Amino acid sequence: MPDTSNDFPHEMLREIYEQPAALRRTLAAYLNAEGLNPSIAASLSDWANPAGEVLIAASGSSRHSGLAAEIILEDLCGLAVDVEYSSEYSLREGAERRHPSVIVLSQSGETSDTLASLRAARRRGHRTLAITNAAASTMAQEADVSMPLAAGIERAVPATKSFTCQLAVLYLLALYECARLNKTGAVQMNPTELAAHIAALRALPDSIESQLDPWHSQIAALAAKYKSAASFLYLARGVHYAIAREGALKLKEASYVHAEGYPTGELKHGPNALVSDRVPLVVLATVDPALDASVIRYEKTIQLLREMQSQGARVIALANTADSTVPALVADCIHVAPAPEHLLPIAEVVPLQLFAYFMAIEHSVDVDRPRNLSKAVVEQAIS
Ligand code: F6R
Repeated sequence: MPDTSNDFPHEMLREIYEQPAALRRTLAAYLNAEGLNPSIAASLSDWANPAGEVLIAASGSSRHSGLAAEIILEDLCGLAVDVEYSSEYSLREGAERRHPSVIVLSQSGETSDTLASLRAARRRGHRTLAITNAAASTMAQEADVSMPLAAGIERAVPATKSFTCQLAVLYLLALYECARLNKTGAVQMNPTELAAHIAALRALPDSIESQLDPWHSQIAALAAKYKSAASFLYLARGVHYAIAREGALKLKEASYVHAEGYPTGELKHGPNALVSDRVPLVVLATVDPALDASVIRYEKTIQLLREMQSQGARVIALANTADSTVPALVADCIHVAPAPEHLLPIAEVVPLQLFAYFMAIEHSVDVDRPRNLSKAVVEQAIS
């Protein structure tokens, strides 16, 4: 297990381990000792849309953080959020009757399709917000408002620390929106509730840090056990679905092992035909006991795990630390320390990043530079 920064054999592993520090820096940029920073609140109020409509355009991992943001902004702030592939949104034509506020999400701030989406949104007269890991990037400069991450330079092609920092900034954006909407009466979040959200967010980096080493040793062994699987299906519900998609993408790009992410309830509508000894499941079964909707989702997932046990499926699950129900139903269980529902994704993606990393090692892939991929997909303009 690495114990100094020089011990990391790959940038990807170093960047996975840098996440607690990257998150702390990012939170420090958006929170002061009292909580939300009034000057950031003022710049965001220029961006916000009176109808509460938001459109998010992004690609790859950045789009997955957008999928999580869709649920967070809808659940916490009551906004109406759509998430688009930037490669699609940028080519859409025709009259748009809605006037959403637009968010572009991009680690690099230079991805051609996302930049084209930003420019298309501006042409359509929408207010724009860029969340990038490069404060001087083209997107950060061209958008009306910029919320840079403080993840630090990310060198490995598979995005890791930029992804968790995107989730943190999107959660902060939701809190700023809640505080603004609270003043108009559109959302009820009293100062005590807001302070509790901020405290939970501030607690995450330490929590992730304390879990990294146990995850590291467990997951290295799991990758050795599952290395010959032909494909994996990642399943999750609600906000966790975004993490199932991200876990599957990470595995594909880092290890060249095929994987797909599905909403858990969709398994029986087709993909279950694939499940076999060679096609295991990765099921996200964490829960926030304080939230009824989370408990209902968890109970439905337990039901599915029982059925998968009878079917003889090989399952790796993610479950809360104290959970004893899930481990009894699956072959392998990775524990994640409890956190509020909408913050769990920031923690639970980390063991999935480690799984992708160790699967890459098992498959002898140059994990920092997987074939056919580049860190920023910047294309020549079509002449
Ligand atoms: C995945 C990954 C890619 C990028 C995508 C968008 O690990 O790195 O899927 O997320 O190419 O790049 P950015 O975020 O720079 O716009």
